[in-house]
Amino acid sequence: MGKLDGRVALITGAARGQGRAHAVTMAREGAEIAALDICHDLPYPRYALAGSEEMTETLEQVRRLGRRALGIVADVRSAAEMEAAVAQTINEFGQIDILVCNAGIADMALAWDITEEWWDTMIDVNLKGYWLAAKYVVPHMLARKSGGRIIMTSSVAGLRGEPGMSHYCASKWGVVGLAKSLAQELSEHNITVNTLHPSGVNTDIITGMAKASLMATDELVNFISTGHTMPVKLLDVDDIANAALWLASDDSRYVTGHTLSVDAGRMLK
Ligand SMILES: NC(=O)c1ccc[n+]([C@@H]2O[C@H](COP(=O)([O-])OP(=O)(O)OC[C@H]3O[C@@H](n4cnc5c(N)ncnc54)[C@H](O)[C@@H]3O)[C@@H](O)[C@H]2O)c1
Repeated sequence: MGKLDGRVALITGAARGQGRAHAVTMAREGAEIAALDICHDLPYPRYALAGSEEMTETLEQVRRLGRRALGIVADVRSAAEMEAAVAQTINEFGQIDILVCNAGIADMALAWDITEEWWDTMIDVNLKGYWLAAKYVVPHMLARKSGGRIIMTSSVAGLRGEPGMSHYCASKWGVVGLAKSLAQELSEHNITVNTLHPSGVNTDIITGMAKASLMATDELVNFISTGHTMPVKLLDVDDIANAALWLASDDSRYVTGHTLSVDAGRMLK
């Protein structure tokens, strides 16, 4: 018996990286999966986003576990596309029990070198995109009266400042404010809202940030890992997926408004 038998999870940014790990981990525990991703590049950030082949791979991995998988191509910045994505998920599965807001971008530049377009895109994807997903999922959870789980991936950059990442940090701190407010609005309905705060995770965002800041990937990874008190350079996607699984399961039923760091001790310094 799985920890998420009979549940449905909508996961944004699920074509690759942590989003795919969330999809596969939750499917392994019995959940049906709606995997949402933009599946094309944007003018910003200055690296490639996931493509449709990567989305296909996520869906196949979920189906190989015997679970149903729905792929949705949508931009989390678009209210119309997110409203339609939620409707499509409910149409397919009849319910949404778990929302994982994970789709995100990163980049590196000094605050005064960030253009208005870069700033707006960062906040739109990483913060507005999370709000829009919640905006359309929450009324469904309330109407269903079966509680729910909302998990928002922030970052250690949502708990501290990071040089060269002011727009990213602002977006990730914003996620904490959004989640803590939503947690208060929803707790009487048994809907929990929590944030995850990973340190560096081994995904394409790391190579993307290195490319954007003209650093060698090793140099960036060394910079990140000097903050770790535990002996690890980058976390694995499963380290984050296992924490999200706990937040999605009954094991954490009275945990809400919490900021859960998975950071190899980064926030100890
Ligand atoms: N990798 C790290 O070191 C790290 C650390 C802390 C937090 N995070 C956060 O974890 C989350 C997942 O990132 P990841 O590491 O898996 O990187 P990733 O780049 O592999 O995955 C991000 C996914 O989001 C999708 N996406 C981007 N913009 C989108 C949009 N507008 N609409 C829909 N989908 C969009 C991308 O196509 C991609 O599949 C992000 O929110 C990121 O900020 C990452």
